[in-house]
Amino acid sequence: MNMIKRLTVSAALILGLGTSGAMAAGAYDTHIEDFDFSFEGPFGSYDVNQLQRGLQIYTEICSACHGLKFVPIRTLADEGGPQLPDEQVIEYAKQFEVFDPEIDDFREAVPTDHFPASGLENAPDLSLMAKKRAGFHGPYGLGINQFVKGIGGPEYIASLLTGYTGEEKEQAGVTFYENTAFPGGWIAMAPPLYGEDVEFADGHENDLHHLSADLSAFLMWTAEPKMMARKQAGFAGVIFLTLLSVLLYLTNKRLWASVKNKE
Ligand code: HEC
Repeated sequence: MNMIKRLTVSAALILGLGTSGAMAAGAYDTHIEDFDFSFEGPFGSYDVNQLQRGLQIYTEICSACHGLKFVPIRTLADEGGPQLPDEQVIEYAKQFEVFDPEIDDFREAVPTDHFPASGLENAPDLSLMAKKRAGFHGPYGLGINQFVKGIGGPEYIASLLTGYTGEEKEQAGVTFYENTAFPGGWIAMAPPLYGEDVEFADGHENDLHHLSADLSAFLMWTAEPKMMARKQAGFAGVIFLTLLSVLLYLTNKRLWASVKNKE
């Protein structure tokens, strides 16, 4: 009897934990749209043009408040990234000022410097944001949605940028904006993008949806710049292991052949 009681209690505890996990994720019933990104799936890769557009959006708009302090500027030239030509990276770096302890003063940034930290105190650094947030949860904390759709960091950011309802409220002197993707539903960041905020040199579409997707792809790259190399190494590993399995199978057959043929 006692045993059964204990079992039901622990079952209730496990179920309770499961639901509270799901509820924490969706207390406000947030909505995350499943954007299609070129880097999804085992063979997906970053779209260089999209990363360059995302970099432009970040530079012209988000960098006013948000930093990317873990990203060295020189990586903008790296393969698998935005792949800017070296001269452009040098020019790009010049727009930032960094503090140099050696000369005890500010100077123009050079490619070996990192992007600056956030200029606005309560604006979080965006370097790792795409891996810090999860767009998809559940059901019941099991993570099945993440298995099917991915973790959803970039989807979360894109949904956040497109998720403003236009409602505002003031609380303790701070303005909050209603947002359908933000946990809790009210964020202290005013809508940073409305659509057509940035003009692209090649005339690429710049409505809110496209800008949000481009920016999120760029932040995925800052959070995981070596994704392409990781996928390639993984793929080579799988091929190698498959070949090895075939060879081991044949070796095994050959080794035991004389024993088996005796019967
Ligand atoms: C005027 C300053 C400002 C600008 C410009 C700005 N942000 Fe923010 N952002 C903030 C502040 C402040 C917060 C913290 C809000 C909060 O926690 O309620 C924030 C939070 C965020 C978050 C974190 C949300 C979370 O889950 O905690 C993301 C992601 C973000 N901003 C992305 C962007 C992007 C992308 C851009 C450019 C398109 C941008 N921001 C432009 C001020 C800004």
